[in-house]
Amino acid sequence: MQKIAIIVGSVYGAAEELAETTLTRLRDAGFEAEIFVDTSLADVQSFGAEYWLLISSTTGAGDVPPNIEDFYFQTRDTVPNLSKIQYAIMAMGDSSYFDTFCGAGKALDEMMQESMAVKVLETLEIDACETMDTAEASAAWLDKYITAISV
Ligand SMILES: Cc1cc2nc3c(=O)[nH]c(=O)nc-3n(C[C@H](O)[C@H](O)[C@H](O)COP(=O)(O)O)c2cc1C
Repeated sequence: MQKIAIIVGSVYGAAEELAETTLTRLRDAGFEAEIFVDTSLADVQSFGAEYWLLISSTTGAGDVPPNIEDFYFQTRDTVPNLSKIQYAIMAMGDSSYFDTFCGAGKALDEMMQESMAVKVLETLEIDACETMDTAEASAAWLDKYITAISV
């Protein structure tokens, strides 16, 4: 059975809420999944999941939220070999920030690429300007994600 680490960055709770909805859907689909908030690279690695799903909002000017900083900086700065990890990203942002739209999702993507992780699906970008219903905004993407990791 596929094991998924859902790694969350959130300031005001919207990304955490999406992570909870996503956890339920993935478990209902038969996957073993756990949410990691305020976590470290070591904690995520010790879970032993082959699949990492990163769900993060953006704060500041394109920055990662404080509660994913430890995980982000440890991974970015030590560049572990993650070539056995298959990952995908749900990035949340607000297009009124223009140039830094979904900046945290992009930074996390670059970090995973640098570590040779394998991307299983294009990043989903959810724009707070367009919708507050993140479950609805992510439903079709999640169907594709489930198909992609089921093969
Ligand atoms: C202080 C602040 C700074 C933000 N900066 C950005 C940004 O640079 N780029 C972006 O796309 N969204 C930005 N956002 C929008 C949030 O990422 C977006 O509202 C998100 O849905 C919040 O999710 P959260 O509740 O999980 O933190 C910012 C929001 C706040 C309040």
